[in-house]
Amino acid sequence: MHTWPYPFLFAHRGGGTLAPENTLAGMAEAVKHHFGAVEFDVKLSKEGQCYLLHDDTLDRTSNGHGLAAEKTVLDLLALDAGSWLAPRFAGEPVPFFSTIATYCKAHGLLANVEIKPCPGRDAETGTLVANATASLWANATVKPLMSSFSLTALKAAQQAQPALPRGWLIEAPWPDNWQDTLQDLQAVSLHSDEALLTEARVHAVKAAGYRVLAYTVNDVARAEELKRWGVDGLFTDALDQMQSLL
Ligand code: G3P
Ligand code: MG
Repeated sequence: MHTWPYPFLFAHRGGGTLAPENTLAGMAEAVKHHFGAVEFDVKLSKEGQCYLLHDDTLDRTSNGHGLAAEKTVLDLLALDAGSWLAPRFAGEPVPFFSTIATYCKAHGLLANVEIKPCPGRDAETGTLVANATASLWANATVKPLMSSFSLTALKAAQQAQPALPRGWLIEAPWPDNWQDTLQDLQAVSLHSDEALLTEARVHAVKAAGYRVLAYTVNDVARAEELKRWGVDGLFTDALDQMQSLL
């Protein structure tokens, strides 16, 4: 089994539901709630700059519109990524990856960098996000854990920066070929929708030598159950509810 420097809890999308997702305000919530690690989603601007956003479009989580892949750095700088959640977050920027890296390092937050490519940009995003991660965390003892639902992006990340740890994100259905895929990726972990996990599956993945992480767990009793089964980490939106599991 690989060494595992990460804590049990990762704040999902920065601050879960307590702040606008994938923003600096979210990372601040993670610090405020004594989290040791955050998960966030990284994609590329039109020019290939890495920035944080979950969706393929800007509409849900900012005052912008249209395709995330078509926005330039200048377009992104003009956006408000906070007002959609609450007026007190008005003016919150769409953050660039480098800003978030600086904040994480300054506050001792470990990171799970989810590579979230826009359609058709999987390999390019995997390569550029992995290269940016290696450079931004060059002097860090603990490197970010890279993950993606996109096997193409993860393979590109593996080729670009083989030394960065990788986790494969899965959603339903549970893949029969999980062991071959993890081996091919030289991954350290499997990140599963929590609803797919059974005690037997957790034990099988761990017996094969991989860590198991579960997303997105907002119920304390379920979090405790997954921990009992041997799950190594959880992504949660409920930063305030999960304090007993820190
Ligand atoms: O990385 C865990 C989780 O963030 C995956 O789902 O859609 O919230 O990015 P999503
Ligand atoms: Mg994510």
